[in-house]
Formats: sequence, C-alpha cells, structure tokens
Amino acid sequence: MLGNFTYHNPTKLIFGKDAMDALATELAGYGPTVQLVYGGGSIKKNGIYDQVIAALKAAGKTVVEDAGVMPNPTVEKLYKGVAIARENHVDLILAVGGGSCIDYAKGVAVSANLPADVDPWQKYWVDFDEPAADLDVIPVGSVLTMVGTGSEMNCGSVITNHEIKMKVGHVFADARVFPKFAVLNPEFTYSLPKYQMVAGIFDIMNHITEQYFSGTDDNTSDYLSEGLMRSLVTASRAAVANPEDYEARSNIMWCATWALNTLVACGKSTDWEVHMLGQAVGAHTDATHGMTLAAVALPYYRLVMPYGVEKFARFATSVWGVSPEGRTTEELAAAGLDAMEAWMREIGCVMSISELGATEDMIEAIADSTLVMQGGYHPLSRDEIVAVLRASL
Ligand code: NZQ
Ligand code: ZN
Repeated sequence: MLGNFTYHNPTKLIFGKDAMDALATELAGYGPTVQLVYGGGSIKKNGIYDQVIAALKAAGKTVVEDAGVMPNPTVEKLYKGVAIARENHVDLILAVGGGSCIDYAKGVAVSANLPADVDPWQKYWVDFDEPAADLDVIPVGSVLTMVGTGSEMNCGSVITNHEIKMKVGHVFADARVFPKFAVLNPEFTYSLPKYQMVAGIFDIMNHITEQYFSGTDDNTSDYLSEGLMRSLVTASRAAVANPEDYEARSNIMWCATWALNTLVACGKSTDWEVHMLGQAVGAHTDATHGMTLAAVALPYYRLVMPYGVEKFARFATSVWGVSPEGRTTEELAAAGLDAMEAWMREIGCVMSISELGATEDMIEAIADSTLVMQGGYHPLSRDEIVAVLRASL
C-alpha cells in the first residue's frame, strides 16, 4: 500500500539542444548580483563558460566568480563560498557543472544567512535531521554539465569533511532549496571523460535501486522505476558505443533527473544503504561518487537479497528480462543481480574499492564512517558492514 506523501517539485527544467537560449530570460527574474559557481575548468575548455557569461551579460548581471569547486565538495570550500555570498550580498547562485557544483551552491545558499556564530557544517551536515523551517535561502539556478546525481531537481546537498572522515548528505525537504531552474542540454555532456559518464550512469541506476528495493506491496512508484531502469540500460549501451549519440545522452540525462527528484520514492520507505557505504568509501578515498557505489553495490545486494527475495526476482524479470522458467525464486533473484553485474562490467564500472584506493587496513575505519539506515529490507549490523566492505575489496 502506498504510504502517505506530499509531492512538490518546484524546479523548472529547460531541456534540449536550445536550452541555453532561455538562460538570460531566467536570470532576469532575480536581483543584480550573481555568484557564478563552477569547478576545475572543464567549462572553459568546452565553451560552456563563454555561453553562460554571454547570458549573464545579456541579463545585465554583476558576476562574482566562485571557481574551483572540487568533486566531492569540502566543508572548507563551503565556508569560502559562504564568505563570498555574504561579502557580495548575492541575489542568485548559478551553479555550472555537475552534482558537486550544484550541491555546493545549495550549501552556500542555505548557510549564507545563518547567524555568524552558527557553523553550517554542524547545523546541516551533522545534525542532519535538523528541521529547515528557519532557512533563509538564496535562490540557486543551474546549468548541468555532468549527469548522474539528480541534484538539478532535488533538495539534497552532500558535503565532505576530510578531517573527521565523514561525507554527509542533507536532504533539506524544503521547496526553497530546490534549484529554481535547471538548464539541461545533453550535448554539454559529450565532453565528459568515459569514466565520469559511466560513474554517472551507475549513480542513476543505484538511485533507482535504492528506492526500488524496499517494501513488498504493489506500488506504482516501482513500475516507474522499472521503466527508468530499462531506458537507462538501453541508453547506456548506446552512449558507451558512441558518446555523441544524442538520443542516448538525452535519455540518460532525463533518467538521471527522474531517478532522484523524489518521484519514485513517493509512498515508499527507503534506506539508501549503498549510498551510506559508498559515501564512507568516498570519505576515505575521495573517489568518484558513482564508482564508490558500483564497487560496494553487489556484495551489499547479495547480502540483503534473502530478506527481499520476491522483489529481487521481480527485478530480474522486469528489468533484465531473465526468464523465470526452471528457476526457483532465489535462483531468479540471483540471476537478476548477475545480469546487473554483467552490464556493469560491460559499460566499465569500477568493481572493487581497492581500485579506488581502499586497502584492507582501512576497512574498520570505513565501517566507522558508514551510517546505518532503516527502511530497506535489512539494516546492517557492524559485522555485516565489515563483511560487505571486505567482499568489495
Ligand atoms: O570540475 P570540472 O573541471 O568541471 O570537472 C568535473 C569533475 O572533475 C567533470 N565534468 C563535469 N562536467 C563536465 C566535466 N568534464 C568534462 N566535460 C563536462 N561536461 O566531471 C567531474 C565530476 O563532476 P562532479 O560534479 O563531481 O560529479 P557528479 O555530478 O557525479 O557529482 C558528485 C557529487 O554529488 C554528490 C556526490 O556525493 C558527490 O559529492 N551527490 C549528490 C546528490 C544529490 N544532490 O542529490 C546525490 C548523489 O547520490 C550524490 O551523493
Ligand atoms: Zn548517488
């Protein structure tokens, strides 16, 4: 049975080859000063920076540059961004990049108007159940260049604190934290290195499975998830074969947005445990997000499968087309995960945390950084976390 839910997604999406034509008009709706957030320079190489600057000029904005957002943005960088926003009294934060830039922009947006003695890391990323009703949020807009996180249409923000080895996501559950608008041109993703493209593809798959693998009810959200997964698998194969296949890249972009814009979680309980494990690996290795998930997902799913075997069997038939003929439910469920594994290897996912820099002697510390969540088929014990991490080496 569908649980109670409220669905409200206020982000305006502008999608397609001509999406950038709308940017200047969107910008016109906000005050004069824009904090322009971007990463390590890819947008200068592929020409997106020039297009954004042209739109900002056309809209008559004063631009305050805030470059150098690293993949897996850090709390130190967040503090610098907050200082920039405060000093310049910015009216809009425009993130041009992937999840890291957009998450960081949201972090600055919710933190800049906090009283000076309140530490945003403590308030939002440590006490992450803190209600956000007192938020005074600077609006955020985005131009997406890397596909995977869904940050362009959700209210989550993931920040890493290397000093205490924690990578934490806060879901603000507040309409004011969603980007006001998101410009999505699939062609902007052509310049992504294959490694990033594949990491993004697995991130999308895992966002869907995190929400799909829970419950035993008949739930429309699960049928939506199955459609998204089938589309993603088809498009991923085409994009790996030809990265400039517009149809494939646009379907991947659209799947990513719907995978994590809260829709397929409606009426469901979810634990996001693969993300908890992956984020812990990320906190210790600073590895690419989607690959941290790929490296831990299969050992985790094989461990929890007996607790939700019917859903895993449905996953095998509905997503991977595995025939139930001659198979027990358990065999069918296992064959579904085998099919996912074959696809992951085919597209080039990283399959072990050692490839990401984790070593045997780091396992206990990574386990210390892993949050255990309720809402899925089986909350992990400490020993099970260690077992999953060992099996992921
Ligand atoms: O920094 P630049 O030079 O731009 O390079 C980036 C970066 O090195 C590069 N890149 C982006 N667009 C490009 C490009 N290179 C060439 N051409 C382009 N068009 O790609 C690299 C990775 O970018 P990043 O933004 O870090 O990747 P992603 O979008 O995967 O974001 C990862 C962050 O988002 C968080 C992750 O934990 C991680 O911190 N997540 C956010 C979520 C959310 N808000 O809901 C959910 C996710 O599960 C995830 O946890
Ligand atoms: Zn993710």
